[in-house]
Amino acid sequence: MKDEQLRELLADLTLDEKIGQLLQVAGGLYDTDALVTGMLDYFKITDEELALTGSVLSISGAEKLKKIQDECMAKQPHHIPQIFMLDIINGFETIYPVPLGQGATFHPESAEKLAEMAAKEGAAAGVHVTFSPMADLVRDARWGRVMESTGEDSYLNGLMSAAMVRGYQGENVADKGRLAACVKHFAAYGGAEGGRDYDTVELSERTLREEYLPAYKEAINAGAKLVMTSFNTLNHVPSSGNRWLMKQVLREEMGFDGMLISDYGAVGEMINHGFAKDEVQAGELALKAGVDMEMMSLCYAHGLKQLLEQGKITEEMIDESVYRVLVLKNELGLFENPYKDADAAEERALCLCDEHRQLAMEAAAESFVLLENKEQILPFTVGDGKKTALIGPFMESPKVYGSWSFPHDDDSIVTIRQGVEKNQSGEPVSYHRGSQFFSADKKLKNGEYLSYDALLAEELLADALAAAKEADRVVLCIGEHPQQTGEAASQTVLQVPEEQMKLLRKVQEVNDNIVTVVFTGRPLELKEIKELSKAVMVVWFPGTECGNAVSKVLWGAKEPGGRLPMSFPYSAAQMPCYYNRFRSGRPNNGTLNQAYVMGYIDQIDRMLYPFGYGKTYTEFSYSPVRITDSNGVETKEMRDKQVIKASVTLTNTGNRVGTETVQMYLADLFGSVVRPVKQLRGFRKVALQPGKSAEVTFEITEEMLRFYNIDMDFVSEPGDCRVYIGSDSMTDNFAEFELI
Ligand code: BGC
Repeated sequence: MKDEQLRELLADLTLDEKIGQLLQVAGGLYDTDALVTGMLDYFKITDEELALTGSVLSISGAEKLKKIQDECMAKQPHHIPQIFMLDIINGFETIYPVPLGQGATFHPESAEKLAEMAAKEGAAAGVHVTFSPMADLVRDARWGRVMESTGEDSYLNGLMSAAMVRGYQGENVADKGRLAACVKHFAAYGGAEGGRDYDTVELSERTLREEYLPAYKEAINAGAKLVMTSFNTLNHVPSSGNRWLMKQVLREEMGFDGMLISDYGAVGEMINHGFAKDEVQAGELALKAGVDMEMMSLCYAHGLKQLLEQGKITEEMIDESVYRVLVLKNELGLFENPYKDADAAEERALCLCDEHRQLAMEAAAESFVLLENKEQILPFTVGDGKKTALIGPFMESPKVYGSWSFPHDDDSIVTIRQGVEKNQSGEPVSYHRGSQFFSADKKLKNGEYLSYDALLAEELLADALAAAKEADRVVLCIGEHPQQTGEAASQTVLQVPEEQMKLLRKVQEVNDNIVTVVFTGRPLELKEIKELSKAVMVVWFPGTECGNAVSKVLWGAKEPGGRLPMSFPYSAAQMPCYYNRFRSGRPNNGTLNQAYVMGYIDQIDRMLYPFGYGKTYTEFSYSPVRITDSNGVETKEMRDKQVIKASVTLTNTGNRVGTETVQMYLADLFGSVVRPVKQLRGFRKVALQPGKSAEVTFEITEEMLRFYNIDMDFVSEPGDCRVYIGSDSMTDNFAEFELI
């Protein structure tokens, strides 16, 4: 439709129709099988209101959505199509690693391909918009939603979020197999106090701008069509009513001109926050902040007319939002084809096709982070005749896909057992569940009830111990339950559940050749696991191809390719915990018993495994860092904003081919405000044959050294800087230069 026609359509709508376009309702109102991601009972909508709504969320399936589209368009007086939105977070039917696992790949091109594949499946299933990427910076592993982020570093998050947007949207969202992307949760949802979901966020404007906003901005620059508001208050103001944040920062400064949608019920929740006294006022605050569509609360539906009559808002304000909704529908081509790509046959053909499974498998292996590998126990040698006991509640469980994944059938998931049976059919492997997930009855957040059986616990343990005694080595598959992660899953304890730790301790008493495979959606305390295991590998929640990826990595057909996208602490009490902190006036040297220094008296001020950390199956060495100018001459200066280069020689000193994730960090040593100890500004994955070396070079620009100075101007300041190049964020391999 031409813009002129859109404007005419808008002019022809009644006020009720306009208000209807601004409301998004849950698919549960149309279909009892639909996913419910929030509270539904309070939502009382009349049939008349329902007939005019502009969008439906959390529902999919080509046939189902075509039918709903037909019914809705028949009722809508101007036959305006619905726009269908869904959380396609880490795959639709073919599920790939949770976003934190994708962060671990340090491979934005892979995230882009995965998003593209998810878009193809989702679009064929009738979906138009995905509520992804989540660009929230996360620094506190107690928050359940760290799993949905790509980690603690805003530079990495920005690259990953932008890649996902490109993957979903392609060149044109109207094209076949494309979805519009919705960046969320604007802003700083990941900064909740104490890691408690839905709690307060207090941030200085400098930290907000420097650390939290950049990743959203990258996603917006990549062309994301939608932005979602966050649930939290930011410096005392709920995001959905934060005019400064939405109008000045998002629209004016970041130049976002797409559709702004609230999070689930977030406009109505401003009443609970004590920011609005009733639905009418909440509607006023949200509209004035520029929220175009209200997800699952009825403040616009119940308030806008009254506000108009009272002269508190104008019809132009409503029109502006309705126009944005219509523009998005038009950009998706829905006025010409309201079903877009919904096609049951294609949905069947695309979902879980071989090509998609292969991509998911590669991504899973690339996300696995090898934390320990004592005596080079990994990879196992094919055909060495050694007996392996595969033990643990994840050994045969299909629940390996994270809390935002909804496969139609768990049979599509390749369990570890199935993967090993298929890929290592010649190996002597025995299989044992070993333990239940928890040591008591447990109600999971999705309502599922796991009842604990004490007798069964004894049987499982006895069977596992007998097998472990017999075997040459044990692979122990343990971890968090997927329902301990995601939304509304904040925790104070960051440990593998006690029942499974008990299993590890007992097994270790009879066989200490243990490879522990850890499933998790967040950093955990792994100190004891490290001590009791020869190898430790974090596999996050890998998705559909879990078993194939794990078995191939264990037996060396694939390398574990991941690096930690979040620091793993010694103790949960260290939260929040991240590498790019500030230097203290009383520096801590990382040992205990120092008097009067920053830190704790009962815990060294270090992380167990820092951001960027991860081993390969081979070893790499780094030369010292060299800095050269644009003529290739060694220098110790960056003059007149010239680009300089920092390089190292990387050598594979081991005896296997391997891929190193070379990381470049910058530090500004003195400033008008205190600067972080270092900040990631580049990385490269380099594959090398044993004994071979490569020159790895990064360009350093003056822009990379900019920050909000004492006057809140975004500038660089002359002075001494460092460039670090190494294998993780604790690297000490640096060279200095002066910015002149
Ligand atoms: C979550 C969003 C999600 C939305 C729709 C909310 O509860 O915070 O991330 O996109 O539900 O399902």
